[in-house]
Amino acid sequence: MSTFWIGTGWKMNKTVAETRRYVADLRARLPGEVSADYALFIIPPFTALAAAREAIGAAPVLLGAQNMHWAEAGAYTGEISAPMLEEFGIDLVELGHSERREYFAETDATINLKVKAALRHGFRPLLCVGDSAEERAAGASAAAVVRQVRLAFAGLAKGEINRCLVAYEPIWAIGEGGVPARPEEARCVHVAIHVALKELGAPSVPVLYGGSVNLDNAMALAGEPAIDGLFVGRAAWSAEGFASLISKVMAARKNIRSTPAEAMSAIG
Ligand code: PGA
Repeated sequence: MSTFWIGTGWKMNKTVAETRRYVADLRARLPGEVSADYALFIIPPFTALAAAREAIGAAPVLLGAQNMHWAEAGAYTGEISAPMLEEFGIDLVELGHSERREYFAETDATINLKVKAALRHGFRPLLCVGDSAEERAAGASAAAVVRQVRLAFAGLAKGEINRCLVAYEPIWAIGEGGVPARPEEARCVHVAIHVALKELGAPSVPVLYGGSVNLDNAMALAGEPAIDGLFVGRAAWSAEGFASLISKVMAARKNIRSTPAEAMSAIG
């Protein structure tokens, strides 16, 4: 069974003190042993990265940043560079979230520069792509997100793309008032992204789903073979919520693994 990713991006939430409490609480609630079949991650704001790194300690939780600039240093007031992030020992960097694209004028071209810079510094880029409500209504969802994937990865070698993660996050599904994608709807877009990644020579890049994931829909989404992980916002902003979601998904996937067909193939 390939690794299943479960992570949360905190957006502009949580102080240092709140981060320490969250991580301590999460550590206490995580299942005793998180098997190698799972990769868990949290993406706090920049100001809480040091506290999060310290609080995570040896727990099996990866740490990510929400954005970074592509330049090493320079006259970019208010920005954060990869060398600055290196000091926190981050594993991942989230790039191209639709809120960054919409409110901070990020483009496919600047996201491409950021992906390259992240890879140069040994971070695993978590590329976020998403379709708008208009694109969805016009039946252009898959085309829109595949375009974003291709532009973000333009000029990269296969081996570099293989070090990335992609998150499909329909813009219409994210946040308050968002409508979660139905599993079969998400499936179509995930399959299209997987096909594009295969064409780019990187067939094993995991594609996570994000957008109003919660305790009610997480299991159905996680049961879709083309969905390799869940990227969660609000439902994981309490350690209790995140831990419950992780436990539920793990329990549901255990059942998938022990279907008669898999049991048969396991015994050859
Ligand atoms: P949400 O956010 O789960 O609160 O909808 C998802 C995201 O923006 O990544």
